[in-house]
Amino acid sequence: MGLPRHIAIIMDGNGRWAAARGLARHAGHKAGLEAVRRCVEHCSQRGIEALTLFAFSSENWQRPGAEVARLMGLFVSALDREVDRLDASGVRLRFIGARARLSARLKSRIAAAEQRTAANRGLALQVAVSYGGRWDIVEGVRRLAGECAAGRLEPRAITEQHVAGALELAGLPDPDLFIRTGGERRISNFLLWNLAYTELYFSDRYWPDFDAASLDEALAFYGERERRFGRVA
Ligand code: IPE
Ligand code: IPE
Ligand code: MG
Repeated sequence: MGLPRHIAIIMDGNGRWAAARGLARHAGHKAGLEAVRRCVEHCSQRGIEALTLFAFSSENWQRPGAEVARLMGLFVSALDREVDRLDASGVRLRFIGARARLSARLKSRIAAAEQRTAANRGLALQVAVSYGGRWDIVEGVRRLAGECAAGRLEPRAITEQHVAGALELAGLPDPDLFIRTGGERRISNFLLWNLAYTELYFSDRYWPDFDAASLDEALAFYGERERRFGRVA
């Protein structure tokens, strides 16, 4: 099968990684950030076109306030520290998710990082923060309904292309390979529409332990798949 064009990852297991070391959950999230840096570098080196990382879900807002606050702080400081390097390596960084729920501080960092890297032609890196697959679909439906109400679109004329084009990942190929670390085998409301035909790979490793060799194992798994898309071999 060769290499996936687009990889989507649920970076799970930070808290358990920390607990196994007698550390606070936050230490796991910090270690997870190191794993993000390694993963982005490795994907860039391997010539992957697009990488979409699930960093914080719509449902994660229900975690204790202190954990949410520290995670949001970690996103701000990660942007402050990483954007130079990402920009220099040609990464185009974008965030997907309900931005309205984020702090003004984080929103302005995100806008600046997106603007700064918008013209880059290397890895397209999407970070999902305050993202949910159902939220994404609801937003897209609202947009299309608005087009209909304004008389610019006929309900009967709506196609899969219209729906795909109204979602956060519009313009990107669907993920070819989905990876979830941390041992759970579920989608947890990640990219519901876009994962329709994605190859699913689950690793029992906690995200902070997911290194370049682990990623290569996932790529090898992908390389062995026969993608039929409903046809016969
Ligand atoms: C994933 O790790 C990161 C986020 C959801 C923010 P977790 O924090 O879910 O770690 P576990 O699953 O509790 O080990
Ligand atoms: C999914 O992990 C979300 C992210 C990794 C950002 P969770 O840890 O929130 O998922 P559940 O609760 O185990 O399904
Ligand atoms: Mg988890």
